[in-house]
Amino acid sequence: MEIKKVGICGCGLMGSGIAEIASKVGMDVVIREVNDDFLSKGLGRIDKSLSRAVKKGKLDEAGKKAVLDKIKGTIRTEDLADCDIVIEAVIENLDEKVKLYKQLDTIVKKEAIFASNTSSLSITEMGASTNRADQFCGLHFFNPVPVMKLVEVVKTVATSDAAFETAKAFGEKLGKVVVSCNDSPGFVVNRLLVPYLLDAIRALEAGVATKEDIDAGMKLGCGHPMGPLELTDFVGLDTTYYIAEILFDEFKDHHYAAPPLLKAMVKAGYHGRKTGRGFYDYTKK
Ligand code: CAA
Repeated sequence: MEIKKVGICGCGLMGSGIAEIASKVGMDVVIREVNDDFLSKGLGRIDKSLSRAVKKGKLDEAGKKAVLDKIKGTIRTEDLADCDIVIEAVIENLDEKVKLYKQLDTIVKKEAIFASNTSSLSITEMGASTNRADQFCGLHFFNPVPVMKLVEVVKTVATSDAAFETAKAFGEKLGKVVVSCNDSPGFVVNRLLVPYLLDAIRALEAGVATKEDIDAGMKLGCGHPMGPLELTDFVGLDTTYYIAEILFDEFKDHHYAAPPLLKAMVKAGYHGRKTGRGFYDYTKK
C-alpha cells in the first residue's frame, strides 16, 4: 500500500515534527489535538520551524505556504477516518494510548496502519488493544524530527511482513534512514543511550568532573554534537527518568537504575530545557 494521507495524534514536539516532514514530501496530513489551545501551539511550532528554514534560505515563502497548506489541524478524531497511516505521538502513558487506539480502531478505515512513536512502551500491548495487531508497528523518530536522520521501525510478533515493509518504505519516503528492530524496551537507541546518560549523571554525582568537563569530554573526545548532560537537558530529565524506570523494570539491571540525583532533580521540577532548568540554567538565554 502507498501512503498518501497521514494522520497524526498529538501536536507536541514529536507530532508537529512528523507532520512537517510528511507534508514536505507531498503527503496530506491531518493532525489531531485534544483541544484548540494545544492545536494552535503545535501548529505554531511547525510555522516556526519552517520560518527557520526560510531564514536559512532552504525554503522560500511559497514553499512554506505549500507545506502548511497540506497540514490540516483538527480536534475531531473522526477527521482521521480516511488516513492510510495514523501515527500516535501523545503522552507516554500506556492507558491513555490504549484508550486512544480503541477509539481510532472504530473510526479509521480497516486497511490503515497504526504506528506509535513511543520511545519505551510496549508496541505489542498497544497493538493487542486493537483489532489490527497485524497492521500495528512502532515508528520512533528523534528530536528534532526535521533534523535527525533516523527512524526506528519496530515490529512485534503480530506485525505482518506487508505492514512492516509499508512502514519502512514510508520512513524512507520521509527522507529518514530506517533501522528495523523488534519490540523490546528502548528499542536500539534508547537501550544504549539511556544507560550512557545515567552513567554521566553518576560520574557527576561521584565528583569525577564538573558537568562542563563531562560534556566537553564527550563532545570533543568522541565527536558527539552534545555532551551527555546537555543532551539529558534536551531530551528532558523527566523523560530520561521515565525511560530508565521502564528499562529497569524490564531488565532489573543496575545500569538502567536512575541515579538519586536524577530523581531529585525531576522531583524538584528541573526537567531540562523545557522548564528552563536542568543541569544547566536556560532562563538567562
Ligand atoms: N527544528 C528544525 N530544525 C532545527 C531545529 C529544530 N528544532 N534545531 C536545529 N535545527 C537545524 C538548524 O536549522 C540547522 O540546520 P542547517 O545546519 O541545515 O542550517 C541544524 O539543525 C543545526 O542547528 P544549529 O546550528 O542551530 O544548532 P546546532 O548545530 O547546535 O545543532 C542539534 C542542534 C541538531 C539539536 C544538535 O545539537 C544535535 O544533533 N544534538 C543531538 C540531538 C540528539 O541526540 N537528539 C536525539 C535525542 S534522543 C531522542 O530524541 C529519542 C528519545 O526517545 C529520547
